Amino acid sequence: MSHDEFPTDRPAVVTCGLPYANGDLHVGHLRTYVGGDVYARALETLGQETAFVCGSDMHGTPVAVNADKEGVSPEEFALEWHETYKQTFPQFDIGFDNYGHTHDETNTELTQEIVRDLAAAGHIYEKEIMVAYDPIEDQHLPDRYVEGTCPYCGETARGDECDDGCQRHLEPGEIEDPVSSITGNPAEYHERTHKFFEVSEFEDYLTDFLDRLDGTSNAQNQPREWIESGLQDWCITRDLDWGIDYPDDAADADDDDADDLVLYVWVDAPIEYISSTKQYTDRVGSDVYDWEQPWKEDGEIVHVIGRDIIQHHAIFWPAMLNGAGYVEPRAIMASGFVTLGGKGFSTSRDRAVWADEYLDEGFHPDLLRYYLATNGGFQQDVDFSWEKFRDRVNTELVGTLGNFVYRSLLFAARNYGGAPDATVSEAVDDRISEAVADFESAINDYSIRKAGNAAIDLAGFGNEYIQRNEPWKLTDDDPEQAEQVIYDCVQLSKALAVLFQPAAPETCDRLWSQLGEDGTVADATVDDASAAPQGEFDEPDELFEKIEAERVEELNEKLDQRVADATDDEPEADAADVDDTDETMTDDTTDDTDTQAASLETLTEERISFEDFQELDIRVGEIIDAEGVEDADKLATLQVDIGLEERQLVAGIKQLHDLDSLPGTRVIIVANLEKAELFGVESNGMLLAAGEEADLLTTHGDAAVGTRIQ
Ligand code: 2FM
Ligand code: ZN
Repeated sequence: MSHDEFPTDRPAVVTCGLPYANGDLHVGHLRTYVGGDVYARALETLGQETAFVCGSDMHGTPVAVNADKEGVSPEEFALEWHETYKQTFPQFDIGFDNYGHTHDETNTELTQEIVRDLAAAGHIYEKEIMVAYDPIEDQHLPDRYVEGTCPYCGETARGDECDDGCQRHLEPGEIEDPVSSITGNPAEYHERTHKFFEVSEFEDYLTDFLDRLDGTSNAQNQPREWIESGLQDWCITRDLDWGIDYPDDAADADDDDADDLVLYVWVDAPIEYISSTKQYTDRVGSDVYDWEQPWKEDGEIVHVIGRDIIQHHAIFWPAMLNGAGYVEPRAIMASGFVTLGGKGFSTSRDRAVWADEYLDEGFHPDLLRYYLATNGGFQQDVDFSWEKFRDRVNTELVGTLGNFVYRSLLFAARNYGGAPDATVSEAVDDRISEAVADFESAINDYSIRKAGNAAIDLAGFGNEYIQRNEPWKLTDDDPEQAEQVIYDCVQLSKALAVLFQPAAPETCDRLWSQLGEDGTVADATVDDASAAPQGEFDEPDELFEKIEAERVEELNEKLDQRVADATDDEPEADAADVDDTDETMTDDTTDDTDTQAASLETLTEERISFEDFQELDIRVGEIIDAEGVEDADKLATLQVDIGLEERQLVAGIKQLHDLDSLPGTRVIIVANLEKAELFGVESNGMLLAAGEEADLLTTHGDAAVGTRIQ
């Protein structure tokens, strides 16, 4: 970490990647927003002054193409979705301090001002380039209006992004074999004058910036490779009606084309981070929060995004900020994808759990928040299934945290009318301090998962503590000790309310009231975790409700039925199409349109003895480093920590996983397989993975690295 630890005396801004205002949100999309909200709340719990801002991304072809399909203007279309998102986020307690949109006056003005500043500083120049054009429709084809072949990896790609292949941003004119995505007409390239931002001039700055950058390691590693392979300047204008006009006074006087140009959506979208902060200040006053401090002087800017938009945030955006004289980001937290039952979400097949559907089913938002925030490391992919959801709710929320708090507060209320007259024991006070320290270091490590676990582990301690001390047996024989134990449990419950609030704000607020505490727990800081409880309170209600197995069956049946209906309704040709609504949202999901059940190998008849099984030394490991084996198409070398030592393994996962995002991943390895040499590299053990896609085996709970599997 290259920055001061949180909390600092500089104001923080936490932002989430702006959702394109063009379609319904599903639980996969919520990962970034829940992640940002948990992180922003946790910073405040540490006592860090924080603004949490976002807005709808209204411009660009992601919106224009979908509006065309609906036959309405992009503005009308985007504003409608913007209003929907504004209502959806609060329903999940995603509490932005400001939620604006990129088409509003603040953002239009600030964007044009920043572009003028960049032009004045000599960072923008113009160049003639070839852009795709549909001669039959007489229409320019920017970005998503054109499809073709990625020049880098050969996959099918859209005009501005190779999101099924190498994930690179593509410049206008780069895509090969261009075809209009609207009409299917083959496109031609013709010459136009466009504006370019000289990103290549920022190479040294960006190299140093990445060394300073905190957050998840994927946000540093991939951009370093892009810089090493040579930075290209960035075309920042488009032949499109919808967007923010390229400012007249930043254009050359003799440049006629500039009149028709709008700015590329990726110019004005991140500027909304600043505009939205400014709107927050306009609302609350600069004495409460002054936007200029973090953005123009010194602040802690943390961007929470999906990993598909790392390049925009770690290359283009810091270069723009630096060129225009703004403060650079402190950290980028780039999340992995979300899958549904091991496959991608597919909106065209209705293979999704929609945000409003989740709520209509009667589930509390905190359950999903907890699941999304803690089901894996932030840069790891997370799978959502109703089974896993039920399992985690019933085990950790109902069984551990809910159970501990309920039994403690019920006992306290019935026997003492609240917290008994005592002070906290040293052992419990120390354990709370330990949990607070875990929480603090998790947030400084940008791990919302570990922050959530700090609370759940503390609840586990509480359960074990109450069980071991059996206060119900002490009330007659040793009433003083009974009071001590119950007082400790009330103190632990209060600490849990404080530390679990970022993940489960509404539930912890209820717990706060049950404890008879004043105000809202959202205003509490880590110091309150050890502050003496208020004293009096009534019998509590249970915080969480168990989910029955039948409910999961019902939900799965519903989902299967919907997928079947949606697939039946689709014309056959479409069935193979990649769903485009998903792609146009903040894309923290993958899209796997293969709904065929995998053909399964028949079970092996021959049995092995238990002793034979026991000969396998299978261990929990954690990947420390992953690199492709040179000249091998499929092989990667992994360094894996297995507790007692570090092992080098070679595995056939090079093309199946994003190697940069593997460090930190929990894996399972066979440790006593004989050594082998593959492509000249020694493999000392075997990584376990399922199926053709090499789905990596992992552990469900928190078994320590090195634990033997039996
Ligand atoms: O990829 C996307 O979904 C974009 N709408 C994200 C924009 S984030 C930002 F920088 F504004
Ligand atoms: Zn590609």
